Amino acid sequence: MSKPTRFILLALCGTACAALLGLLFANPLDGQPKSDFLHFLGRFHPVILHTPIAFLLLLAILEFATMNRRFSSLSASIPLVLSLCILSVLTAVFTGFFLAYASGANEPLVQEHMRTSLFLAVVVLAMGALKLFWESQTAVASYRVLLLVSLGLLASASHDGGTLTHGRGYLTKYMPNAIRPVFGLAVEPTSNATSPQELVVYTDLIQPIIEQNCVSCHNPDKLKGDLNLETYDGHLKGGDLGPAVVQGDPENSELIFRVTLPEDDDEFMPPDGKTPLTPTEVATLVWWIESGASPTDTVADHNEASDQVVAYTQSIFESMRSPEEIEALLEEKQALYSSLAALNEELGILITPKAPESGEFVLDTFSIQKQFDLATLERIAPYAHSIVEADLSGTAITDEAIPVLAQFRNLESLNLSKTNITGSNLSALESITSLETLNLYGTSISNDQVSQLAELDQLKRLFVFQTELYSASAVAELRKSLPNCSIEFLDTDSFQ
Ligand code: HEC
Repeated sequence: MSKPTRFILLALCGTACAALLGLLFANPLDGQPKSDFLHFLGRFHPVILHTPIAFLLLLAILEFATMNRRFSSLSASIPLVLSLCILSVLTAVFTGFFLAYASGANEPLVQEHMRTSLFLAVVVLAMGALKLFWESQTAVASYRVLLLVSLGLLASASHDGGTLTHGRGYLTKYMPNAIRPVFGLAVEPTSNATSPQELVVYTDLIQPIIEQNCVSCHNPDKLKGDLNLETYDGHLKGGDLGPAVVQGDPENSELIFRVTLPEDDDEFMPPDGKTPLTPTEVATLVWWIESGASPTDTVADHNEASDQVVAYTQSIFESMRSPEEIEALLEEKQALYSSLAALNEELGILITPKAPESGEFVLDTFSIQKQFDLATLERIAPYAHSIVEADLSGTAITDEAIPVLAQFRNLESLNLSKTNITGSNLSALESITSLETLNLYGTSISNDQVSQLAELDQLKRLFVFQTELYSASAVAELRKSLPNCSIEFLDTDSFQ
């Protein structure tokens, strides 16, 4: 290469470096959308950015391969690859800057991505200068060090860029649970639903739709419209315009408004020509919000779904399980249904599914009342974990039944009203963490049993009217011990 050519190249490198450092220090990203033409150029960033990645990796492979004499002939190609590397890095950096500048993006992660990429460009230019103009041992060693530095910067810039486009956790989302702990990641909960009825609507149906279509722009790093859709609370809190989801009211939920606008409307979500939600996905979101938009309710707890949504829940359930698993679950459930039918027949009680085809059951004893005693309860105990509601009111059970009832570990509601329960060992029910409602109406439970009841801090509703529990101090103590429980003492009054 002639001396003047070298000089011109060096001057070009210097100018480019100065421009990049200028950008770095001036930081003109102000969050305001700009000219369409710059935006047009900026949109090429996601296409172009793959070229510097490829060239830089190739450059590293060539450089380290030529350290082995067998590959020394490859060194002739290094100046060409290095030049392509410089050109592609500069193009990616400038289109990236146009994209951020013109689209008005200036979140912290965008700024960090820009800074790392600008540093990368400066390092690559310095590598070019070293390779072209100096041949000393020190120059070669410095070049190699810079090459390693550039690979580090490349990894960091690509990671931030990927997070900006796809949202955090995109790469690791489907990492098998077996290896997640190796990378310090929490094990993803897998649904243990044994039927579509048992899917948790928010986590199993809603969140995947939102993650797939919305979270890339609405996450803590990229809060478009100041809205974070990564968490349940973020849906309720909403963004600049107020809540995105109004429980029970899809018509006033900004989220539904945005996804049901005409696709060419400026406010339509997802914007920028991204694939719109399907009518089924929209119907599922509407159904969830109509039913109260709970974070934990299952399909069975929700309003009755349209055929379209039923088919969707079925398909999601099937996608979570292999056909063999579904077959096995079905057989298991059929066996359970027939054993319970036989038990009902024999004991004269009713154990019925909470919803059609559900694996959750409700126990009703009113048809035999006084004939239902500890021995009957023990016959049911093998099915204890399938029963979520048990009505034992007016039966002949006594305190001896409480340890048996403690085995009903999925109970949500337990009615012991008008039985001979005294309350002396009620704290054994502490182990049923799902228990929300306990009815002790008309039992002989007294002021002395407050300490037993105080252990049941999982309760949301407790009925103790027409009992021996009425001293003011016992009542006050109970209220203090169960602050989250609504406690009903009298037929008409309810104490919080
Ligand atoms: C490509 C990025 C992008 C994607 C993907 C995206 N949004 Fe948005 N969203 C925005 C931007 C930008 C705004 C702010 C401008 C506006 O209000 O239109 C916004 C605003 C919103 C708002 C109004 C927030 C407020 O209170 O101001 C809602 C609601 C919303 N988006 C819902 C969604 C939903 C639901 C999805 C998925 C179906 C989605 N978005 C996908 C970029 C995106």
